[in-house]
Amino acid sequence: MERLQKLLAAAGVASRRKAERLILEGRVTVDGRRVTRLGEKADPSRSKIMVDGRLLEAEPKTYILLNKPKGPITSVSDPQHRPVVTDLVQEVKVSLRPVGRLDAATEGLLLLTNDGQLAYRLTHPRWGVEKVYQAEVSRRPNAAALRRLRGGIALAEGKTPPARARMIPRRSGHALVEITIHTGWRRQVRRMLEAVGCPVMSLRRVQLGPIKLGNLPRGKWRRLNPAEVRTLWKAVAEPRKAQSAADREPVRTNRVTRPARRQDVQTRIRRGDLPTKTRTR
Ligand code: URA
Repeated sequence: MERLQKLLAAAGVASRRKAERLILEGRVTVDGRRVTRLGEKADPSRSKIMVDGRLLEAEPKTYILLNKPKGPITSVSDPQHRPVVTDLVQEVKVSLRPVGRLDAATEGLLLLTNDGQLAYRLTHPRWGVEKVYQAEVSRRPNAAALRRLRGGIALAEGKTPPARARMIPRRSGHALVEITIHTGWRRQVRRMLEAVGCPVMSLRRVQLGPIKLGNLPRGKWRRLNPAEVRTLWKAVAEPRKAQSAADREPVRTNRVTRPARRQDVQTRIRRGDLPTKTRTR
């Protein structure tokens, strides 16, 4: 459910301000009922929204892969006027939200979408989607430190769930550690490495579930193709089995909407709203 004026603006009917005027002028109906006051919400996938008798086209589901540079915060707006990640995808005229968070100083793979159901599952620990990070560290972790990273590190929230950790061979420069986690605690990778005496100098996310950053240049974005969107839905088809209390712990997410129920997903597949092998966006 979203405010009507926001839906009208997102569908490109008018600016948010002008959309409010359209509502106040009684030119908008929801399922045949004229709406004349601001603040009403509607779900365009369930209701028929019309402006001057013309049906509002639902915003197409859009999935963007951004190689976030250092700097912008993972948000859609900021009261302190700091740069935000959506500044980098301004050409995409739909209301995108980032999927999860990266610190301002972290770079790499960030998905942005207007598909709230998928975003919810990708970020909620119940689905435990794996995230792969590569960290340049000022001190090379020894075998014992790698074992600790894998086995769990005591942080303020509790012990981190089992992770994968390995060194990436490099000819020169700082040591590079790759860590795979499925939780999203605040600054988790930085704090894990700090705890084993290897502070992070730079951090990059290279993979989220089945999606890899690849060679997308820093600051650039591309649309996911339908096959990639299908692999994401497949990755969150079933909740992950909780292995420890930490796995069940809720984290702050950029939740867009309530979780999809199995029935919703099936309805969307029937409607052709979810990508299938033949459908492209
Ligand atoms: N872990 C961190 O420490 N920072 C991030 O941005 C993501 C994971």
